[in-house]
Amino acid sequence: MQDAGTKLEQGSAQLRCIGCGSVLQSAGRNFRCPDCDDLLEVTYPGWKCGDTALRPQDLKASWTERRKSSAYADQSGVWRFRELLPVPSGPASLVSLSEGNTPVYELPNCARSTGVEALFAKHQGMNPTGSFKDTGMTVAATFARLEGFRWVACASTGNTSASMAAYAARGGMRSVVLIPEGQVSWGKLSQALDYGAVTCQLKTDFDGCMRVLNEVVQRMPVCLLNSVNPYRLEGQKTAAIELLEQFNWEAPDHIIVPGGNLGNSSAIGKACMEMKELGLISRLPKISIIQAEGANPLVRAMRENGGKKLSPMRADTMATAIRIGNPASWKKAVRVLEATGGTVEQVSEVEIALAKAEIGADGVGCEPASAVTLAGLKKLVKQGFIKRNESVVLILTGHMLKDPDFTIKFHRGDLFPDKKDDAAILKEQQRAPIVLDASVEAVLKALEQA
Ligand code: F0G
Repeated sequence: MQDAGTKLEQGSAQLRCIGCGSVLQSAGRNFRCPDCDDLLEVTYPGWKCGDTALRPQDLKASWTERRKSSAYADQSGVWRFRELLPVPSGPASLVSLSEGNTPVYELPNCARSTGVEALFAKHQGMNPTGSFKDTGMTVAATFARLEGFRWVACASTGNTSASMAAYAARGGMRSVVLIPEGQVSWGKLSQALDYGAVTCQLKTDFDGCMRVLNEVVQRMPVCLLNSVNPYRLEGQKTAAIELLEQFNWEAPDHIIVPGGNLGNSSAIGKACMEMKELGLISRLPKISIIQAEGANPLVRAMRENGGKKLSPMRADTMATAIRIGNPASWKKAVRVLEATGGTVEQVSEVEIALAKAEIGADGVGCEPASAVTLAGLKKLVKQGFIKRNESVVLILTGHMLKDPDFTIKFHRGDLFPDKKDDAAILKEQQRAPIVLDASVEAVLKALEQA
């Protein structure tokens, strides 16, 4: 067991292929198995040997204790849980922005309208760059710098690029981002620019950016920081560890996660399975994944062939963060669904927009991609998959201010100009700004009408 702020020690982590099980000494540039081309994951073989440093009660006490510490590593809601992470050799080598430490909010109004008694949101949008990516980026950027990379790179729908650019800057590395032209919100694009990334808008979609990047990393010494990088997922695991700590180590019945490239659902599932293995929790929550109808390759794969094969598709949704047709981590996500007994669901554009406004009306707010969780919950309750007396946690992945254009268009009634059938239901949630004369009477009249 480590004292707060003392030297960090190299963990027993190793890289293993999820397909053929080969154990690798180091990852190649594309983070894929040289034998079968499948993805890699970080595993901890030492855990199985009854390591006394991993006794659940000691881990829990130590993690709580670190909350009071002002040491650099302990200020991070990721590195606070370092016993369950691959760890570099000293705290000074961490690239951190005090990420993690995100709140859990109750959503009373959303609970009422959905019909469940206990509904919570773990808000990963409350991270330093406004999305869950930061928890993974601190680990991946730390290892990129440790391995001597001067450049890091990603393809992105916006949040990864914002986060990577920030952590690269903090770690003294340069960054290059490939984003689909015209499909990334201004909030996210502006972050990448401000944090100093070389920002390339490619005339393609996210999947096209990913294809180009995979070639680029083979030709240049740049470290790939997309979620195929298994160190990213290790950091993202801590959202679930911290959530369970916030729930006093009693797992909720359900955790609902948005699905895009499927790294985050994989990470949260991996954390829950590891916590169960280590005796930190006694039962697994069911982890369900929600996609937009227009970007639903996992939903199709599960329904058509039980998740044995995924057919890439051309993706389209206004929730641009999850506009992904060929998700890299789909096999890892299928494994999580199977291990936890979760399910998949898809939601329409109107359902996403309504759910987002409802989360906003609870005083919490999130970006469109995060709102698929509430929209999906409604369907899963109606189907009886989630019972009214079961506890549910939505993982909100991005901050409300990431995509203000979407929000303003929604409230002004400009988001769905052609959806006449849904006009009444949309109107119920819309709160358009009112233009008035600058007089007391005009304001009082507006208040009466409200
Ligand atoms: N929610 C938000 C706000 C996202 O930005 C993303 C992914 C997801 C959900 C889906 O998570 O890919 O792990 O399944 N954004 C990536 C990006 C792809 O480039 O920012 P996932």
